[in-house]
Amino acid sequence: MGAAMKTILVTGATSGIGLEASVQLATQGHRVVMVGRDEQKTLRGVDEVKRRASSGSVEFLLCDFAVQASVRALAAAYRAKYDRLDVLVNNAGAVFLERGVTEDGLENTFALNHLGYFLLTNLLLDLLVKSAPARIVVVASGSHYKGTMDLENLGYEKGGFTAMGAYERSKLANVMMTRSLARRLEGKGVTANALHPGTVATGIWAVAPWWAAPVVAVLKRLFMISPQEGGQTLTYLATSPEVEGKSGLYFTRNQPKACARLAKDDALGEQLWARSAALVKL
Ligand SMILES: NC(=O)c1ccc[n+]([C@@H]2O[C@H](COP(=O)([O-])OP(=O)(O)OC[C@H]3O[C@@H](n4cnc5c(N)ncnc54)[C@H](OP(=O)(O)O)[C@@H]3O)[C@@H](O)[C@H]2O)c1
Repeated sequence: MGAAMKTILVTGATSGIGLEASVQLATQGHRVVMVGRDEQKTLRGVDEVKRRASSGSVEFLLCDFAVQASVRALAAAYRAKYDRLDVLVNNAGAVFLERGVTEDGLENTFALNHLGYFLLTNLLLDLLVKSAPARIVVVASGSHYKGTMDLENLGYEKGGFTAMGAYERSKLANVMMTRSLARRLEGKGVTANALHPGTVATGIWAVAPWWAAPVVAVLKRLFMISPQEGGQTLTYLATSPEVEGKSGLYFTRNQPKACARLAKDDALGEQLWARSAALVKL
């Protein structure tokens, strides 16, 4: 393997910005390990990336990030197959219109969008450190600015669930986790940065109710950027020499930007870390 060729794990690689970033990273000559949850869809994604990037170095693993046992199995499968990890791209995510719980008994949005990232990153942390210089890329969102954090009602067990509230909270948790990771990894040669990809015309909007679908279609056409453009911020943070050594930052359009005031509350960030570690039994 050439010194410049990185081994990059991309979650949520079967569609949207994860798929496009996989194409971009494979085109740059890196080995890309795409993570999907449905085998047939993932195989189609691998074929597409290989074809569009003219690359033979595209592989895959399967995981349902809403299920902790599945995340643990992914980490074990990755370790069994690969002895290094240069870049971890945490990207798999979704919006849930109704409150529901995973088989671990945790609210879907928080479990998938935050705890999925949290558990996988922690299970692969030592491999990243061993592969230093290495990077962790966290796909958060501009929605994190509106996020609230109630450690006593993280999954809206005591009520108050709204789809956007839960999504915003999970994305705020992404930025807080990124900052906590950056503190823990200081001096270890591994950076952690979060990003907003832009408002991107991807499958994430398919969750909109049927009556809103025509409006969403118009918004997508007129106001949203393409998945290719959205993928560029992931790709930039994953491999650009411009971000070498930078850590604990939140990027939009390839520029660091101030994150939410709440996200900068590092004491709260540490409480969230401890609570998350307990919820995933680390
Ligand atoms: N689109 C936007 O405007 C926007 C803005 C800000 C942030 N983001 C963030 O960008 C990330 C990617 O979203 P996207 O816009 O590219 O949406 P997308 O096209 O719907 O892609 C989401 C990806 O996550 C995967 N995924 C969903 N649930 C999963 C689960 N339980 N286990 C494993 N994988 C799962 C999907 O797999 P399947 O293909 O199997 O469904 C898909 O690969 C998300 O974290 C989202 O919050 C998006």
